[in-house]
Amino acid sequence: MSSPQILPILHYPDPRLHKVAKPVDLAAGVPKHIQALIANMLTTMYDAQGIGLAATQVDVHERLIVIDVSEERNAPIVLINPNVTWASAEKQKGDEGCLSVPGIYDGVERSTSVKVSAADEHGQVREISADGLLAVCMQHEMDHLMGKVFVEYLSPLKRTRIKSKMAKLEREESSSRK
Ligand code: NI
Repeated sequence: MSSPQILPILHYPDPRLHKVAKPVDLAAGVPKHIQALIANMLTTMYDAQGIGLAATQVDVHERLIVIDVSEERNAPIVLINPNVTWASAEKQKGDEGCLSVPGIYDGVERSTSVKVSAADEHGQVREISADGLLAVCMQHEMDHLMGKVFVEYLSPLKRTRIKSKMAKLEREESSSRK
């Protein structure tokens, strides 16, 4: 297999971020293209110093997420076809950021604990109980698979400001590439 690649990450408000991902077909095990995608997404996430990445963000619309919330950056979690099986009624508001919305951090309310059922990189289905940062990250990444970006929880005014900031950033980046 060729060595893992860094994939381009879509930036908000790219309309492709709003596509709904379809389930990965695991009937014959984890497909080859998904195995390669897992390696590439992990490489991309670590390179960008993110704690999570959904396939949607690299323009692949299948239900796959990679996460690593460890300090040491050595505890990758792969979630294929994740589903929330339980979410706590207790919620908490905390600041979130996103590799698709660089430089923007704002408060989003999420369940403090969740249980998520998903297949791992070997196609083995298991249930993960999460709280704290992992619970927030899982909910944020699963939103991506539904075509939802965290800024959609913010007020229309904030969203408009974020869109103009992103447009400015794109302009700066495209002029620095010339
Ligand atoms: Ni994100």
